[in-house]
Amino acid sequence: MKISVVGAGGNVGATASLTLAQRDFANEVVLVDLARTEGDKTFYPSKGRGLDQWQTAPIHLFDTRLKGTTDYADTAGSDICIITAGVPRKPGMSRDDLLSINAKIVESVTRNLIAHSPDTILIVVSNPLDLMTHVAWKASGLPAHKVMGMAGILDTARYRAFLAEALDVSPKDIQALILGGHGDTMVPLPRYTTVSGIPITQLIGKAELDAIIERAKVGGGELVGLMGTSAWYAPGAAAAQMAEAIALDQNRIFPCAVHLDGQYGINDLFVGVPVKLGKGGVKQILEVELLPDEQALLDNSANAVRGMMADLDRILSA
Ligand code: NAI
Ligand code: 2OP
Repeated sequence: MKISVVGAGGNVGATASLTLAQRDFANEVVLVDLARTEGDKTFYPSKGRGLDQWQTAPIHLFDTRLKGTTDYADTAGSDICIITAGVPRKPGMSRDDLLSINAKIVESVTRNLIAHSPDTILIVVSNPLDLMTHVAWKASGLPAHKVMGMAGILDTARYRAFLAEALDVSPKDIQALILGGHGDTMVPLPRYTTVSGIPITQLIGKAELDAIIERAKVGGGELVGLMGTSAWYAPGAAAAQMAEAIALDQNRIFPCAVHLDGQYGINDLFVGVPVKLGKGGVKQILEVELLPDEQALLDNSANAVRGMMADLDRILSA
């Protein structure tokens, strides 16, 4: 099992590569990033991160080999590739600028990966997530079940962590589901939230639950406010968890951004829904029953993603 992580000189990618190594199921994890020149010095963050992480092997006790590189030839034959390359939105940068810059990065990274691993499976993390997953799918030429975006596991993990705190229970016992795009319109579903099978509504009052849901929806922004940049530990761990489910054919059910082709009444759009992940990628898209108000929220979230897709088309064709 060989897994490549592009953007691994950065925060999310480096967390994903170390998490993968610590899980110890892959033979090799390749960290890819650009070289960076400052004055007369050139730095190689992916090589540095790879070397540093490999030197944790005798401490963490894993066998997975880690290799940092700037050369896509080193990714050849990757079973799974994780794409975290991109730029975060900076002050003064418009949303159109971000869309355009990251779309070009994700497109070129995908082409480079596919040139060396034509049958790989892609897990996209770069933002705006649902759109960048679409860009990678188009650039890869892969069937849709081999291309997916990571957001739902992160959004659900935030929701579960907040609930665990509020109820003073183990986060391990909280099961939850969030649908929709990775943004403020995401759709947490209290009806599908349980603590060891007990419906959440029997354990917490509506006002407190509503406040937790609202906090989870803007969970990314809360961390940007605290750190001045976006989160990486939970996002990197979530991407690694998806890769593990595929590599070990675990048939795990996770919310992931996948290409919908009529499911939930949504067509030709990447949006977060529950899927079964195992050998080969997305084995099944699960269509859970939604009440009319839940479906309306999902439609609203899908429309927000579709609106950004129109922006992306406009920017790229200009
Ligand atoms: P970062 O800035 O720490 O790392 C990004 C890395 O991408 C940098 O090392 C940069 O050199 C590299 N990169 C840029 N262009 C490249 C190219 N053409 N080829 C190879 N590497 C390239 O950023 P961070 O915090 O790791 O975030 C990465 C991305 O993940 C961002 O787009 C961020 O918005 C997104 N993100 C998505 C989440 C999700 O839930 N889907 C959660 C957190 C972050
Ligand atoms: C997050 O949710 C910014 O997408 C990033 O943390």
